[in-house]
Amino acid sequence: MRSLQKSNSHFQKAVKKLPLGVSSNFRYWGDDKTIYVKRGKGGRIWDIDDNEYIDYRLAYGPAILGYADQRVDDAARAGMDVGGVFALGTELEYEVASRISRMVPAAELVRFSNSGTEAVMAALRIARAHTGKDGHIIVEGGYHGVFTEVLWYTEVEDWDPKNGPPEVLPYCEGTPKIVKPLFHTVPLNDANVAEDVLKKHHGDIGAFLIEPIMGNCCGLTATKSYLEDVRLLCDKYDVVLIVDEVKTGFRVAKGGVQELLGVRADICTFAKALGNGYPISVVAGREDIMRHVGNGVVHGGTFTGHSVSLAAANKTLEILDETDALASIERYGLQLQEGLGRILNGHGIPHNFVGHPSMMGLFFSDEAPVDYRAWVNTNYEFYDALAAELHELGILVEPDSREPWFLCEAHDVECLNETLDKFEQAVKITLKKTPADRHAIKTA
Ligand SMILES: Cc1ncc(COP(=O)(O)O)c(C=O)c1O
Repeated sequence: MRSLQKSNSHFQKAVKKLPLGVSSNFRYWGDDKTIYVKRGKGGRIWDIDDNEYIDYRLAYGPAILGYADQRVDDAARAGMDVGGVFALGTELEYEVASRISRMVPAAELVRFSNSGTEAVMAALRIARAHTGKDGHIIVEGGYHGVFTEVLWYTEVEDWDPKNGPPEVLPYCEGTPKIVKPLFHTVPLNDANVAEDVLKKHHGDIGAFLIEPIMGNCCGLTATKSYLEDVRLLCDKYDVVLIVDEVKTGFRVAKGGVQELLGVRADICTFAKALGNGYPISVVAGREDIMRHVGNGVVHGGTFTGHSVSLAAANKTLEILDETDALASIERYGLQLQEGLGRILNGHGIPHNFVGHPSMMGLFFSDEAPVDYRAWVNTNYEFYDALAAELHELGILVEPDSREPWFLCEAHDVECLNETLDKFEQAVKITLKKTPADRHAIKTA
């Protein structure tokens, strides 16, 4: 059994200074379960109790090459010598922007920010300026950052389909209810609902915001035909299609989810894998739309285009673009799925993988869910129980089944074999501890 003695005692100290003892609500896993990290290297991290974990959270995606990647860190160190930020531009911005445009054709013009949240905020603002319409559409189960216009969730856990569509609620206190009439939510993969909403409200809707592989919702994936329909609807109703690639960008393909699923955004956003963990994000898009920036729309920030983050992004993108790093991550993902599947089949546990092998959702159900409403019919309780056992054994996955497993280039054959070995142990322990009826797949 792993000891969290030092983490637990640090938590008691930290909570006196920091709400929940951490710098993000999502890092608090309970008073006696919150982990403090000592360091990360490659595909592994060590906590302050010296427990070692193979990490499949990867900070929710950024460490695409692995933690403390020598190539990126050397570049970042050189970026330090440049001096940080100047409230002026540097030449490297152009170079990185040009590579992004080459990798993602829809990114005709590029602006840098620091976080995914900032990039999506900017995307919505630019879309509103372009269309003159303030409203937007978001997809149920989607997460687009910690800001008011998107910080809402669809309540499916206690939802009864007999009562109509599920309720949409503020994600947290402090979200002004006055914002709610600004947006509409639609289920993934149902173009008829999207069309109904647009037919009725297109006069007020300026943006359709979608993450086609839902990195905060188990990797649920839009079908190509749904994306084609959404693209056509956006064109028909003068709506800007924003493809949020904060998680999928430079991960699921060199050209992101747009390349993988064959959709072209009007505006797209990137962060996470862009800098292998250094804080940098991008809002990019069609030239005529992006030209609103500086021509009515303000975009900026003290730390945008920081020399360390830019240098890290420059190196990360060079590696992703010019080596087979992404192909090797995908190969690992497929081997992992094959191995996990073999173990689960051996125990007669119905399951499905969704998303992309580099960011995959694992569901316990006979059929893979196609939208967030269907997720509720999977056996996520079994997932939650299994995740806790995996943590004890040194395999770090998100405790909540809605977060996919993230893979990086540094995950190697040793990680693979160790993961499969421990997964088998965790499945056995979970089956023993959890009453059998909880393994029955729930039906709607
Ligand atoms: C799709 C998507 N958009 C936006 C964000 C917000 O990014 P950040 O946490 O960097 O603000 C996230 C974060 O997980 C995300 O997954």
